[in-house]
Amino acid sequence: MNEITVLDREFSVYITEDEIQSRITALAEKINEDLKGQDVLFFGVLNGVFLFAADIFRQINLDCQVSFIKLASYDGTSSTGKIKELIGWNEDITGKTVVVLEDIVDTGATLERVIGELKLRKAAEVKICTLLFKPEAYTKDIPIDYIGFEIPNNFVVGYGLDYDGYGRNLRAIYKLTK
Ligand code: IMP
Ligand code: MG
Repeated sequence: MNEITVLDREFSVYITEDEIQSRITALAEKINEDLKGQDVLFFGVLNGVFLFAADIFRQINLDCQVSFIKLASYDGTSSTGKIKELIGWNEDITGKTVVVLEDIVDTGATLERVIGELKLRKAAEVKICTLLFKPEAYTKDIPIDYIGFEIPNNFVVGYGLDYDGYGRNLRAIYKLTK
């Protein structure tokens, strides 16, 4: 299945299921090595991260926990337009080593919000792990510790990533063809 249609758009395969899985194994090995002996909280940013989080978490051999937050957007009443609120902070992260898991870092706006909150809540150490990274779109200077794939500034779907809510169930990652 090299060419697919999601809603009204056509996509072609870009990163195969095997490529995704072997890269995840390599990332997990690096994290296991770097954080050896530490008690680690993996912190996923929903929705897009759910498959990546499940696959990488199963390959972590540290003492670890997992939790998720979600960015809820709603239309503000003022001219500022869309307001995004982070929901789901149930965890006490004071003094913890936290690994933020993201499906994709694009402009970095989401990441900046999450990191800001983690600092306010006094995490001891924060690492960032993203499956995909678009360096050309990135506008922040927060260093990213673990990157699965650097990709050009093209729209992608699959493996958790959506186009208007659809396409998350695809096993590979596909890019928009036109
Ligand atoms: P940010 O610009 O780094 O804050 O990214 C915001 C969000 O945009 C990500 O978490 C994704 O949900 C979404 N996003 C960015 N690029 C893509 C893409 O190519 N496909 C699907 N979703 C994307
Ligand atoms: Mg999305």
